Order: sequence, then structure tokens, then C-alpha cells
Amino acid sequence: MVLKVDPLKPEQSLIKKACQVLLDGFVVAFPTETVYGLGAIATYEEAVRKIFYLKGRPTDNPLIVHVSDLSQVYDLVTEVPEKARKVMEVFWPGPLSVILQAKESVPLVTRGGLESVAIRMPAHPVALSLIRCAGPIAAPSANKSGRPSPTTAEHVYQDFGDDVLILDAGPTLVGLESTVVDVREEPWKIYRPGAVTREMLEAHGHVSVEYVGKIEENGSTPSPGMKYRHYAPNVPVFLFRDVDELPPNQDITVIALDGLAPTLSGKPNIIFISLGADQHSAAARIYMALRQAEQFGRTTYVQLMDEEGIGIAYNERVRKAAGASRKLAN
Ligand code: TXA
Ligand code: MG
Repeated sequence: MVLKVDPLKPEQSLIKKACQVLLDGFVVAFPTETVYGLGAIATYEEAVRKIFYLKGRPTDNPLIVHVSDLSQVYDLVTEVPEKARKVMEVFWPGPLSVILQAKESVPLVTRGGLESVAIRMPAHPVALSLIRCAGPIAAPSANKSGRPSPTTAEHVYQDFGDDVLILDAGPTLVGLESTVVDVREEPWKIYRPGAVTREMLEAHGHVSVEYVGKIEENGSTPSPGMKYRHYAPNVPVFLFRDVDELPPNQDITVIALDGLAPTLSGKPNIIFISLGADQHSAAARIYMALRQAEQFGRTTYVQLMDEEGIGIAYNERVRKAAGASRKLAN
């Protein structure tokens, strides 16, 4: 079932309804500013298991626990270093997940068997209202494992149909998942780049290592999500920076900024999918663009952004999509 809800002033009757579904031990898909999440009450083990089952997610891949108030963090973790508290105050609510040492009260299923737990306060009135009613909510992105993260309620519906209640507040603003950073000790380690960049974090602490996409030789990895196959589009995906890297006569789909539209949209062999004017709109639209490109069924060329700001997170996601599409083809 899909319930349309006002993104800025969520109707309390609808929030109550969704909250009751959570309290009854079921899952609810809800919007955040990054992507839609598939939530269950973080301390309800059976409900959290349903998330893993519905997504087809490996059980050792931990979930992010979403809070609505800084004080809730102290119920979830044993220790909050002073500088870690500072980044939460600065960047919350917002697209930053911090990894801290978990209390026993956070079920092992929620944290994928790890000693630590990732926590974030989403900047979305619907998410915050829901958490205020139900308490901390564990939620991964609301896609089947191996699909792109959902930036609209329609995307959630494409993956789960009527199996879950979906709160529909329209498209998400950021469009890429939160930055994940381990702040237990310095140097802090970024496991996943996002809208809160390394430079923004470095104003508050020492960030010397980025583990982006890194997998240790023995197959172990500090952040389990990194070791799993990422979204592999069912069309071949290639990346490009300049128009002269595109094949001249092949029938292709091109996903790029509006700046390239005058050069490309008139060509008969090209289907052009716009990412809008800049890096921010590109981040917001890329997952939807990739889902569209799959419908066209053609080899797809995706424009890389400059390696700065949210362009870093965008590039990381499209590189993974291209790499995974290549592996499937081999
Ligand atoms: O923006 C977001 O973060 C969205 C919205 C719904 O909040 N959520 C999201 O969750 O992207 P998910 O499960 O798709 O990605 C969480 C990532 C995974 O790569 C996971 O391995 C990592 O965070 N992670 C979670 N807890 C961790 C922990 N304790 N230690 C290391 N990595 C962790
Ligand atoms: Mg995900």
C-alpha cells in the first residue's frame, strides 16, 4: 500500500498509522533526504529479520539506525568521543552516518554481528516524525539487494510491490546514500563517500584513510557493505568525460548534464537522459536515470563529474555500476 504524505508537514494521522505498523513488528518504507529506507524498530529482532528477508540481504551486512534526537545515541552506544559528538551536532540532521561502539541492547541482527553500530539522524520531516513516534528505526535503502537505491516511492514499489507499506513524499533531495564514517578513533575512516565530504569532516577531526571500495586481501572488510556486489545494471555501462569518447555510430543511451544536450540530443543514434544542470542534480537523478536506461536496453554511457564535493560520491557509485556491469558481461 502506498500512502501519499506531505513532505514538509506530514499528516499526523498517516504517521500514526505507519508507526502502528512498526510497533506491530512489521516494516515500513519511508523517505529520507538521501534515499528511501526500509525500516523496522531497531530493537525488534524479528522485525529487523524481515528487512533482511525482504531485501535478500546477506545477514552480515549491518543496518543504519536512524534517530530523531541526539540523546537517543546514548541508549545505543557505550561511548561518544567529544569530537564525534561535535560532528553529530554540526551535520545532523543530515546525510552522515557515524559508526560507534554498540551497547548490548542493540540486537546483533541489526548490526550484522559487529561490535559497532552506524547511526544517523535523517533531515526529513516524515522520517523524523516516524522515529519520534516509534523510537530508533533500523533501515537500509529500500531496494532489493543488487538494485539501485530508490529515490522515489515508485522505485520502492517496483522492487517490493504490495509487500510493504510505503510512505510517499515525492522524490528525495540528495539522491545518494549518506556518508558512512567510523569516528571511534582518529583518524576517522570513511567507508562510503556521500554529501558530507571528507573536507567537511576534516574541519572537525583527522580523516587520514578512505576505505572507499577497498577490500582486504583475505576478503575481510571493515564495512561489510563494501564486499558485496553492487548494483549491476542489466545493460552494459561505460563512463566518459568528453563527448569524443562516445562511439560515433552505435545506438546508445547517454546519461549526462544538460551542458551536453545541444551537442547530443539531436543525434539519431543517441537517447539522451538529462542529469540537470550540475553535480547536485546529477546526484539526485542518477539512480532514476540508470533505471530508465535499463528500460531502453542499450549500451549506456554515463558522464563522470569533477572529483570534488558530491561529485566524489557520484563517481564512486557510477564506477561501481560500470564495474559490476562489466563483470556480469564476462
Ligand atoms: O542514506 C542512507 O544511508 C540510507 C538511508 C535510508 O538512511 N541508508 C542506507 O543503508 O544506504 P544501506 O544499508 O543501504 O547502507 C549502509 C552501509 C552498508 O554499506 C553497511 O555495510 C554500512 O553502511 N554499515 C552499516 N553499519 C556499519 C558498521 N557498524 N560498520 C561498518 N559499516 C557499516
Ligand atoms: Mg543500500
